[in-house]
Amino acid sequence: MTETHAISFTLNGQPVSAEVDARLHLADFLRHTLKLTGTHIGCEHGVCGACNVLVDGRSARSCLMLAVQADGTTVETIEGLTARGKIADLQAEFAARNALQCGYCTPGMLATAAELLEHPAPTREEIRDALSGNYCRCTGYHAIVDAIEAVAQKRRAP
Ligand code: FES
Ligand code: FES
Repeated sequence: MTETHAISFTLNGQPVSAEVDARLHLADFLRHTLKLTGTHIGCEHGVCGACNVLVDGRSARSCLMLAVQADGTTVETIEGLTARGKIADLQAEFAARNALQCGYCTPGMLATAAELLEHPAPTREEIRDALSGNYCRCTGYHAIVDAIEAVAQKRRAP
């Protein structure tokens, strides 16, 4: 018998309520139930970071989190971050600097960067450290680090 639970949380600024299987991952709930396919799934083992979303403002692996664990939280996916323009500068800088190629890792990278940039002046080493849980097969990481560093500097500019 499948065990289900009622959950309610705030997703991209909107209330969401659902009855979910106890073992359903948040990533699958977002992608398959809610059709928010901007959150990507790579390894499904917490290694690659493609599935990162923000939960209560902190980046979190949605492949390691159960949908029931989202109950009562505030979740932001790439769709919500984009719609609110919260990371428009990061997205523009990623595009300008070729920090995305196939784009598969990009939503997770941006979620990680969004959290990191709450810290106003990360060093290059801190940016690399923050990104160490996000795999990219295409870019070699330099352009991604450059883009995040540039946005950090621009946000600090008077
Ligand atoms: S799909 Fe979640 S960390 Fe790889
Ligand atoms: S841009 Fe292709 S995996 Fe990062």
